[in-house]
Amino acid sequence: MTLKNDVLEEIARIRDTGLREIEEATDAAVLETVRIRHLARKAPLSQILRGLGDLDPTERARIGQAANTTRRALEDALTEREAGFGPRVATAGVDPTRPGLRPARGHAHVLTQTEDRILSIFRGMGFAVARSRDIEDDYHNFEALNIPKGHSARDMQDTFFMSENIVLRTHTSPGQIRVMKSTPPPVRMVFPGRVYRRETEDASHLSEFHQVEVLYVDHGVTMKDLKGTLAYFARSLFGSDLDVRFRPSYFPFVEPGAEMDIECFQCRKRGCRICKQSGWIEILGSGMVHTWVLREVGYDPEAVSGYAAGMGVERIAMLRHGITDIRLFYENDLRFLTQF
Ligand code: PHE
Repeated sequence: MTLKNDVLEEIARIRDTGLREIEEATDAAVLETVRIRHLARKAPLSQILRGLGDLDPTERARIGQAANTTRRALEDALTEREAGFGPRVATAGVDPTRPGLRPARGHAHVLTQTEDRILSIFRGMGFAVARSRDIEDDYHNFEALNIPKGHSARDMQDTFFMSENIVLRTHTSPGQIRVMKSTPPPVRMVFPGRVYRRETEDASHLSEFHQVEVLYVDHGVTMKDLKGTLAYFARSLFGSDLDVRFRPSYFPFVEPGAEMDIECFQCRKRGCRICKQSGWIEILGSGMVHTWVLREVGYDPEAVSGYAAGMGVERIAMLRHGITDIRLFYENDLRFLTQF
């Protein structure tokens, strides 16, 4: 008898405190603590409900009814109070009549943009685009390009060796060998790709960078074709009114070899920081494919001739955009990248 009354009193107490606490709750978070205190699995009311089975039937009926009514009352009060707080999302300061925010949209990396531009100029002149491999053997990276063991040109391109014979390509020129060995002339191709050199990294050197290689071999290709095509390319990229010049240079796989300069687009030959006061900017290395190389790939140097060129994509991007530190391309800093 006393037990039953004690329990009924406790239920009434839970109901009163619970309803008062719900009434006084100032926000949804406080309301949640009230819910936990009175309705969670370990709350006194839940324990009473769970203990009903141990009571004799008459007690069970009355206590059970009281406990269930209280539970429902608390639940209803909670629901109602919660609705009073409005949706859980804060609406203060939100103006639903404003136009929506556009999600930020990505774009191609400045190096990809530069490479695309280079390739599209050559595509426009009928060149096909292909890719060669990053991991090369000594033969394709050096030997077949007329750079035998012990040749000083091997030091110009300090090499990452994977094993005695396998290297990370130091330039895209081995692609020339692979293309010519697998295709009969004529070939008119450009191949972009990553190249690797053991360099101490600084503002103008990285151990990994990009080149685009150019190769055209056909009947009767001459230095005039080389000059005309490469000059057209450089002017398409930097400005159609700029002067272009070729300086003799040495690469073992071409003869003659030449480096191409374009008139400094910044100072127009007067001399400035970009052109290091020379008035000219070096754009690429080039030359007529060496007859030794033609013979090596199985072409007949009496029947065909051709030219090749190679350029650095980072270097061209730096010139086009006035970027002074090559490392910026790889830092993934959006403040830098979103400018292009
Ligand atoms: N492979 C040379 C380099 O990396 C560039 C080059 C390519 C020169 C083709 C001449 C002809 O420096």
